Amino acid sequence: MTIESLFSLRGKIALVTGGSRGIGLMIARGYLDAGAKVYISSRKAEVCDAVAAELCAIGECISIPADLSSEAECNRLAGVIAEREPVLHILVNNAGATWGEPMATFPADAWDKVLDLNVKSVFFLTRALRPQLAAAATADDPARVINIGSIDGIHVPLMETYSYSASKAAVHQLTRHLAKQLGREQITVNAIAPGPFESKMMAATLRDFGDSIAAQSPLGRIGRADDMAGAAIFLASRAGAYCTGTVLPVDGGIATTK
Ligand SMILES: NC(=O)c1ccc[n+]([C@@H]2O[C@H](COP(=O)([O-])OP(=O)(O)OC[C@H]3O[C@@H](n4cnc5c(N)ncnc54)[C@H](OP(=O)(O)O)[C@@H]3O)[C@@H](O)[C@H]2O)c1
Repeated sequence: MTIESLFSLRGKIALVTGGSRGIGLMIARGYLDAGAKVYISSRKAEVCDAVAAELCAIGECISIPADLSSEAECNRLAGVIAEREPVLHILVNNAGATWGEPMATFPADAWDKVLDLNVKSVFFLTRALRPQLAAAATADDPARVINIGSIDGIHVPLMETYSYSASKAAVHQLTRHLAKQLGREQITVNAIAPGPFESKMMAATLRDFGDSIAAQSPLGRIGRADDMAGAAIFLASRAGAYCTGTVLPVDGGIATTK
């Protein structure tokens, strides 16, 4: 056993949804650094293409734009991947959306928008890519599905983000349910529950409350790109091969020490 054999992703093929910025980009970059070939997907085609082109300086990165809020688009993305790759070793279901509004006016649309992307697309895309994941999987080195949940699915957030916190609790439970179902095919399913990380989604919150949010962590800071990359590489590499159905908080202890 070597450190290289435990953590390297050389020879592996990964898809990271929402890989064009924020947490998805942190993971895509980490996987490229670890030697994987990485597909990224997001809605804005020009941005996705430009980010993939930039990441090619590290390793092979390919952009396939898609709006994953519908089952049809999840199936289309899976079809494009299947045409190019008979096997997929790692699927990271990261693309997500949030909505904050007082309870009195919180609209029905905010439930549909958030649940369609945060929960239903995780199920639809995993199902559509199951044949490629199963084809990549061995008992010694399972294929990996990594869902990005949130500590807001573990504790109750400060903001009035009702559909978001409910969606992330659902992602954690869906992770356990899929892990039970797919284990026999040697596909592991785990979730990362991030605390606060710099991203477009978190920009306003961190601008207004960054210092007090950092102070809630026993470690006194928000997350860094390498904190996220490290956890995602662990779950995707030989090092994480015996973990399935887990929800790993990467939050500096914010939710776990309360
Ligand atoms: N940042 C944090 O502190 C934090 C904490 C806990 C959990 N999370 C979770 O981490 C994940 C990433 O969040 P983030 O903070 O990095 O957010 P972000 O900066 O807003 O990035 C979201 C990514 O998803 C893509 N995306 C959005 N809607 C999409 C759709 N309908 N179809 C396909 N792609 C779509 C975006 O690109 P386009 O806009 O071009 O589609 C972008 O690449 C989410 O699941 C979020 O809930 C984040």
